[in-house]
Amino acid sequence: MRRLLVTSALPYANGPLHLGHIIEVVQTDIWVRFQRLRGHDCLYVCAEDAHGTPIMIRAQNEGITPEALITRMAGEHQQDYRGFLIRHDQVHSTHSEENRRIVCAMYERLRDAGYIARRPVRQAFDEQANMFLPDRYVKGQCPRCGTADQYGDSCENCGATYTPADLVNPVSAVTGTTPVWRESEHLFFRLGAFEEMLRGWLEQGALQAQVRAKLAEWFDAGLMDWDISRDHPYFGIEIPDAPGKYFYVWFDAPIGYLASFRAYCDRTGTDFDSYLKPDSPHELYHFIGKDISYFHTLFWPAVLHGAGYRKPSAVYVHGFLTVDGQKMSKSRGTFITAKRYLELLPPEPLRYYFAAKLGNGLDDIDLNLADFVARVNSDIVGKLVNIASRCAGFVARSGGVLAPKLPDEALYQAFLAESEMIAGLYDSRDYSAAMRELMALADRANQYVDHHKPWALAKDPARAAEALAIATQGVNLFRVLITWLSPVLPAIAEKAAAFLGSPIDRWDSVREPLLGRPIKAYEPLATRLERATVEALVQPAPAAAAPAKAAESPATIQIQDFAKLDLRVARVVNASTVEGSDKLLRLVLDLGDHTRTVFSGIRSAYAPEQLVDRHVVLVANLAPRKMRFGVSEGMVLCASGQDDAGGLFLLAPDSGAVAGMKVN
Ligand code: MSP
Ligand code: ZN
Repeated sequence: MRRLLVTSALPYANGPLHLGHIIEVVQTDIWVRFQRLRGHDCLYVCAEDAHGTPIMIRAQNEGITPEALITRMAGEHQQDYRGFLIRHDQVHSTHSEENRRIVCAMYERLRDAGYIARRPVRQAFDEQANMFLPDRYVKGQCPRCGTADQYGDSCENCGATYTPADLVNPVSAVTGTTPVWRESEHLFFRLGAFEEMLRGWLEQGALQAQVRAKLAEWFDAGLMDWDISRDHPYFGIEIPDAPGKYFYVWFDAPIGYLASFRAYCDRTGTDFDSYLKPDSPHELYHFIGKDISYFHTLFWPAVLHGAGYRKPSAVYVHGFLTVDGQKMSKSRGTFITAKRYLELLPPEPLRYYFAAKLGNGLDDIDLNLADFVARVNSDIVGKLVNIASRCAGFVARSGGVLAPKLPDEALYQAFLAESEMIAGLYDSRDYSAAMRELMALADRANQYVDHHKPWALAKDPARAAEALAIATQGVNLFRVLITWLSPVLPAIAEKAAAFLGSPIDRWDSVREPLLGRPIKAYEPLATRLERATVEALVQPAPAAAAPAKAAESPATIQIQDFAKLDLRVARVVNASTVEGSDKLLRLVLDLGDHTRTVFSGIRSAYAPEQLVDRHVVLVANLAPRKMRFGVSEGMVLCASGQDDAGGLFLLAPDSGAVAGMKVN
């Protein structure tokens, strides 16, 4: 059995995940799920990239500690991962004891082997903040074209690259004061010492052709020493033999992969060294975006090698996500956070769309919203799920039991004949080609059903067995497809497994068709995407429907302001939980002359069955709010303490009030 250890890049802990991060974890997650489906032992670890100046400064600006900031961000990121069905074995942090230990140990080995040099560096220093300034924290006029307000490393207008010392009228981005220049000793990793090793590694075919070409350029330009230290104050790991100096965030970040794996090993009793020793028989893969290739294809293998560890089996680089052909941008509204997406839509359509667009190269991937709607509705709903939904009824009519024999064994075998070709496409991360092949098979399955018209046969009681046989064929073809699509559509596959009464956990389990056995009643496996909901992704999110907090005392209002509220007594007709949300209940409310559906965040306080027939107070003229689960037509009033800490209490009229009464 192959053992694989797989990572995605560690997101910075100073901001929310956006769909660019999500395409990477989806790409990785599909690959990992595929490997497991094939029977390999595949571990997937990730972590928060918690160190560095931006995190330190953001925490200062928020008036909190960096630890508080990274803890909050880690919580948000975890929630996003769950929402997109990303199945990590471990998510850890670079700000952890495991990382500190491994970073220091690796540094000491590099130092003792002679790979660390020390020499003074002249750098901008902010006397007011009492800190050295990274290049991006010095701003000024471009020395070449004179454009104002440029960063200390390059000009956005003319593309010139330079050092902060070259800027005209430099100022510190931290305090706005003019920096001075100071010298300080820095530590350097001697990358040049690894050139031969790296050239050899490159030859082993561990990299994509485009990445290899890039590396050749970097070799030609010469491998320079890498500055791996930063002076106090810095949020990072202190260098053991250089007090007041810290490892540069990019030194400890990739080591965070190992720290996360260490935490996994400690938790599960797995042997860390067997994966990391130089001659390890196991495999190590990193999935990253093209912007961080240099760190992963030069520094990282060199650091691993220099510290006595194995090198990655491969680094898989992907391109950048654009939205409707544009770079994601906050000002254009195309910066879509993972959280916002999940408020509006379920995860699997996007997982499928990304798979349908991802090749194994470095090309950028465009999320075209119109194409997204069309693709998902046509492929998942119109082709894939359609096979099951149109066949299931004929099985149900025959007592819910599949026919004992496939009427078209050859067609089933034709599907199985594609198995290794499609597996090969997944394995080489050519998901778009895999999706094309799978959808071509879905077309064949639908054509089969169209051609044999079980609905026509079923009209004649004498031919019911034929209709059942056709449906059995269709159900089995569907099973092949959903099994091979399960790395992309894990939740739909799980529902399909329940429908089929047979687990979907091995690629080859479809070798034997399901015959002469019962299946469950069909329940919808996927629903169509609405154009308007998808378009809401690039419209500003509505202000959060914040319940009035007890602690705030709002300004005095006039009676006319109060009169704007249409408060009504409503009776709960039905209450149910909402799949995919642990906060919401779906309430159907009777207002006397009509009913409304409202999503209310009271699941923590009430079980659905407690609510039926109770009277509540509804803000009836609140603008409807589109949510992922449907439209919420109003808001139910609750009493609560600050942050809902003391619980939630529904407001109710005194007994005798009836649905539809106005509250004033
Ligand atoms: N913290 C570093 C990585 C350290 S790995 C040891 C970092 N973080 S990041 O949050 O900026 O990016 C995390 C990953 O998301 C990177 O692989 C990056 O390439 C990827 N992406 C960020 N924006 C992206 C797009 N718009 N599209 C696709 N991937 C993108 O870099
Ligand atoms: Zn310029």
